[in-house]
Formats: sequence, C-alpha cells, structure tokens
Amino acid sequence: MGIPLKNKEGIARMREACAIASTVLYQLKDLVRPGVTTFDLDQAGREFMAKLGARSACYGYQIGSRRFPAHTCISVNEEVVHGIGSLKRVLHDGDLVSLDVVVWANGYIGDNALTMPVGLISPENEKLLHVTEEALRIGVAQAQIGHRIGDISHAIQTHVEANGFSVVRDLVGHGVGISMHEEPQIPNFGKRGKGDVIKPGMTLAIEPMVNRGGHRTKTLSDGWTVVTTDGSPSAHFEHTVLTTERGPEILTVPRSTTASVHALTALPA
Ligand code: MF3
Ligand code: CO
Repeated sequence: MGIPLKNKEGIARMREACAIASTVLYQLKDLVRPGVTTFDLDQAGREFMAKLGARSACYGYQIGSRRFPAHTCISVNEEVVHGIGSLKRVLHDGDLVSLDVVVWANGYIGDNALTMPVGLISPENEKLLHVTEEALRIGVAQAQIGHRIGDISHAIQTHVEANGFSVVRDLVGHGVGISMHEEPQIPNFGKRGKGDVIKPGMTLAIEPMVNRGGHRTKTLSDGWTVVTTDGSPSAHFEHTVLTTERGPEILTVPRSTTASVHALTALPA
C-alpha cells in the first residue's frame, strides 16, 4: 500500500474538488450569525455543494455500523469535531463554531475546516482561534519534500503548547484523495524526524484540533460528536495541501476568478 502519490490528472481533479470545498466553506461562513441553527447551516452546505456539482463526502460516511447523517460537520464550543447540525442548536453571541466541509467531485475529495466567532467572543477564545490557525500554517510549512510527517506533527504541537493550549490526541489529520482518509495519518503531536518521508504528489489534510483545557475527548451518545472531556472550548482548522518540489501548495482555496473576469472583458460592448 503506502502513501498514494497523485499524477497530473489526479492533481487536477484534487484542485477542482478542493476549490469547491473551499468555496462552500466560505459561503457557509457568511451565514454564521446569532440566531441561525446548525441545521440551517448544514442544509445550506448541501445546497452549495449541489450548485457546484459536488456532494458531501461526510453524508453516509461509515464507521462501523454507523453512517454520518449530515452533509457538513458543525461543532460548537466544547464540541471538537463531527457535530451534527440540529434544529435545536441555535448559535448564540459568544459561541465558537467550527465548520468542516468535505466534498466529493469527479471522484476526488477536498477537505477543509475553520472555526469562527459568533458575534463577540472572549479574549481567551480569540487567542484559541488565532493560535490554532497559526498552528495550521506552521504545520503546512513543514510539508516539504524530504521532511517527515513527524516534522508537521511536532511543529503543530510545539506551537500549541507554547501558547498554553493542548492538542487533541484521539483524532489526526490524514492523506486524502479518492478516499476521505488515506495514508498517512498526520497526528498533531509527535517527534521531529519520525514517520514517513514526504514526497512530491502527496495530498495531505492537515488539521490541528486544539483545546483550551486538557487534550482528552469523548464521543457523545449520538455516536459522532466529539467533545472535550473537561468541557473546555475547542478549535479546528484544516487545509488540503499538495506537496511539490516548490514547497507545499494549499489546494483548499476558492477558484481564481481570473478566467471569468477575462471572459467578461472579452464580451463585446
Ligand atoms: N474533516 C473530517 C475528517 O477528516 C470530516 C469527517 S466527516 C465524517 O475526518 F463523516 F466523518 F463525519
Ligand atoms: Co479531515
């Protein structure tokens, strides 16, 4: 087996899927405000994906005998990941909400997530968001040819812990491509110089999950929602990254609008 390396066509399709995943994530971000339910956000996510010719890779995703029942993962406050949108969950001023969008387009998967404030949040939660997003950037920067997966893990852990927070151990980042979870696993903790060597053509979902309190988590009785054991708030940021000789390339960015701008300029007056 080993880590799948994507060829030219695979990379083109990954770009497509990741651009869609990012576009949908930003469309959802625009809808977040006090009063909206997590069900509304999930339904909007389903529609945004459909409009872009994609569908959710989460919906129906199977672990054991359970199938994930929603189209996106929406996790509030002490929920770390895999929250299920619900009409009963209304977002309030001061909440943190994590949006995780995984799309399937033309046989390839793009995976990305962010956590954002609802209205005004506490300075400690502001710091949590900031440090977790920085940890993602710092982790991505380690995805260089010749480095090892442990270099990513170590860089993330070091940054998070230097800021007084803890990294979740029970869930990890992962390779992504024709399946949502491919090799390698990418823990957000570990040792420099350990793990697989990074080669060109890997597509990696790097995703620090950071708790304000302890690192421990548990899964709620719905079988999916992962929460911090101590109830402390948690944040999650994720990008799908392509490894290249020129360095890591973040694929989960909205598609450039250059082409359509040119098309418009070319139109007769
Ligand atoms: N980004 C999450 C992951 O990498 C998405 C999980 S979707 C679910 O695991 F279907 F597993 F909920
Ligand atoms: Co992921």
